[in-house]
Amino acid sequence: MLAVYVLASVGLVLAVKQLAYRRSHRISRHGRSLRTPPGTLPVVGNGLKFLLLDRQTLFDWFSEVHNDVFGFETYEISVPTLPPGIVISDPEVLEFVMKKEGSEGFGKGPFFEERSWHLFGHGIINASGQLWKMQRKAGNKFFAGSHLQVLVDEVFPVFWQRAKEELDEAAETGKVVDMEELYLEFTTRVMGRVAFGMDLSNSHPFSAAFDYASDLTGLRFQNPLWKVNYYLFGHKFRKAVSIVKSFGNEIVRLAVCRRDLENPSEKSNPQTNDDESGGDLVNMLLDAVPEHHVVADSAINFLSAGRDTTANSMTWMLHLLLEQPSLTNYITDELPPSGDFHTYASLSTALTPKSHAVFLETLRLYPPVPFELKQTLNSAGMTLPDGTVLPHESVIVWCPYAYGRSKKIWGEDAYEFNPERWIERTGDEAEKLKVRSAAEYPVFNGGARSCLGKRMAEVMGVWVLSESLREWEFEEVEKVGRRRSRNSLTLPMEGGLKVRVRKRNMPAL
Ligand code: HEM
Repeated sequence: MLAVYVLASVGLVLAVKQLAYRRSHRISRHGRSLRTPPGTLPVVGNGLKFLLLDRQTLFDWFSEVHNDVFGFETYEISVPTLPPGIVISDPEVLEFVMKKEGSEGFGKGPFFEERSWHLFGHGIINASGQLWKMQRKAGNKFFAGSHLQVLVDEVFPVFWQRAKEELDEAAETGKVVDMEELYLEFTTRVMGRVAFGMDLSNSHPFSAAFDYASDLTGLRFQNPLWKVNYYLFGHKFRKAVSIVKSFGNEIVRLAVCRRDLENPSEKSNPQTNDDESGGDLVNMLLDAVPEHHVVADSAINFLSAGRDTTANSMTWMLHLLLEQPSLTNYITDELPPSGDFHTYASLSTALTPKSHAVFLETLRLYPPVPFELKQTLNSAGMTLPDGTVLPHESVIVWCPYAYGRSKKIWGEDAYEFNPERWIERTGDEAEKLKVRSAAEYPVFNGGARSCLGKRMAEVMGVWVLSESLREWEFEEVEKVGRRRSRNSLTLPMEGGLKVRVRKRNMPAL
């Protein structure tokens, strides 16, 4: 009872403070206030919607409001305790925001940094300025080298072996397999190798702690009272974060020991990692960033950026292909004729345009980063191309999930899964992958902070789906209507993807 009273009082005080703040930081367009979405209430604004709706329902709401009410018009949302905010849906406006990244324009800002600080710390996802630049440079170096080719040609086949055994066993025994878990195990192992140079399994206590901390961090962006939650009931969250941090620090300590043993003479000047040597990211970060605790945060950030996002994409891809089995040949037609694994070379978009089309189309409908925000960092404020005037620290929200379902961008069939929309046929019937701008298709963000792992995600998604569909057929155990996502930082499938498996060309189940 006391807790309820404290919560209510704190909420009220913050709401009053917020009203005063809003008066002095008014967002306008051509001298007038912006429209607000249907259902906006006096004082609490859209706060209840953000607090009470689960994330999936909120994403659907963003899509409906865009398609049915505002179109490309920028509108205002208000949530007590939060700075004034707008929602943008116009690709031209988003392009402007992406291009103006930095202290003179837009950036993550205190709104994002505060909420993700406990989990992401000084890592690349949360950092700005020099600290961000150093990590970005190390990441660029890693992905520009031969690492991706080594991953595809050498690491994927080894790590896929466990999945293959599990699927073979399931085909023989009739055991049900959760493909979301199976894919997550694969991506955890790949990202463990990329980020830490180690074999990391999903059953490691780090993974459970990391999942818990990520889910709660995701909810902080919706809950205006997250701080109260954290201080009153945050024990389990604090414990999870401490497990994640200790793990990161231990990995860095071991990496430093390894380097010292291998190069004892270079202890004080550890510029030892050759970018073509096949080393892992943690070593490249150690070369680029002097403080070891920042390297630990950074490695965790890279793992976080790549692990769940890629597993999400594979799970939704398989689900959508099971819904429309006639489209499976988009992937199987492009398998290497020799019966071998795809190589990095055979996974070029020129050689596998249709498989890439399935990947891109899946992410259009189910973007693993479904919700994005920035803040106006320029102390003088900013004016958007549509004339919206934003005071300092205004929050700009866009929803890649709603962009993907925009009828104005994708046409009347925007809600349908149709990989064909990505295929361009030239005169001689050759197929080519269509390119869409980051502002129309913001699944991997754009501008200076675009996703560093986009190519890795593409090759991983296509490789894994090719291997899945080459050998097995799948049948969802329960057809539960339209699948939904579960609350998280990314877009995992609620309930997982449980399937029965059989070897291709075997008698029916
Ligand atoms: C389907 C899979 C993926 C999707 C949809 C995706 C999407 C995104 C998005 C939207 C952002 C911007 C987030 C923000 O700043 O608000 C981002 C950033 C980032 N992504 Fe990915 N990502 C994927 C896979 C990967 C992989 C495999 C890696 C490899 C490590 C990776 C590394 C990163 C990094 C390091 C950043 C931060 C970039 C920066 O702030 O400078 N991502 N990603």
